[in-house]
Amino acid sequence: MRSITITTENKQSHVLIGERLQNLRSYLPDGKVIIITDDNILRYYAADMPPFPIISIGTGEKHKTLETLVHIFEKLIEHEADRTTYIVGIGGGIVCDVAGFAASVYMRGLRFGFVSSTLLSQVDASVGGKNGVNFRRFKNMLGVFNQPEFVICDPFMLKTLEKNEFIAGFAEIVKAGAIKSAPLFEYLEANVDKALSAHEEVLEKIVYESVRIKADVVENDEKEKGLRRILNFGHTFAHAFENMSDLLHGEAVSMGMVLASRLSCKMGYLSKTDSDRIENLLSRLQLPVKPVVELRKAFEPMKQDKKREGNAVFMVFLKQIGEAVIEKITYKNLEEVLNDLC
Ligand code: GLY
Repeated sequence: MRSITITTENKQSHVLIGERLQNLRSYLPDGKVIIITDDNILRYYAADMPPFPIISIGTGEKHKTLETLVHIFEKLIEHEADRTTYIVGIGGGIVCDVAGFAASVYMRGLRFGFVSSTLLSQVDASVGGKNGVNFRRFKNMLGVFNQPEFVICDPFMLKTLEKNEFIAGFAEIVKAGAIKSAPLFEYLEANVDKALSAHEEVLEKIVYESVRIKADVVENDEKEKGLRRILNFGHTFAHAFENMSDLLHGEAVSMGMVLASRLSCKMGYLSKTDSDRIENLLSRLQLPVKPVVELRKAFEPMKQDKKREGNAVFMVFLKQIGEAVIEKITYKNLEEVLNDLC
């Protein structure tokens, strides 16, 4: 097991890579604990969970809502949760986002930790303290920054993932390499087959490196005032695509990164060779690289992005693999370059 500690202004968050769900008990304080998970995780792992009350939510992005929060709050009251109650979210990005938000606002905040069960949540979603839900058609519109005390990244839980869920996780790993680590990107290029077949050593290395990169960014800019925006590489497009389709987040991020790389090329930041390398790697990892929705139609949802500031949005471009740059670009300019690209 390897661990990474993320230290922010008022908290420390321990990410435990290679730890097991079965050891969860040893990270919990004495006293009342309540588990928040989903029906799918319960189907496979109920027997491995410590014997605490369980609140289960439905699976999928459609359950990342205020209604699900209301359900959780009602159950917390039913279980007589008080300020000393500890919350554990066990699941992927959606469970962790919702559980972290519920824990952060119930009675003005309870202590909480996660067991992260998908590749995407282990390398990105459950790490870094973003918790929240979607509202109307706006993704992650309601939420808080609040670090979980621990995140257990259990490699064995990846074995029960659907293939497309597992593969979707690679998008955020490619992102980590593309924005901040040429060595991670090159390692992935050299180990595609092993990564796809969930080779233990390769998986542990790429999860560890991705978390290390994210930890470094989050420690420097927890509340996304500047540097943390680089983690949104490809995400402005991705969120628009997700808004218009049933794509998994990682699939949409893959398409978004291809577009953002081409745009980086067009703006004169990135070489065509590097842009092609990104597209090739994603494609070799069996991720989709061509937008499934018409770009022109994606422009309106793009304007609803949280990162919007007036008539402009912060976009992340690449200068080379391993180096990103953040630029504020007006929607008018973005539309022009996108139209050129179409
Ligand atoms: N997933 C982007 C972030 O955590 O900032």
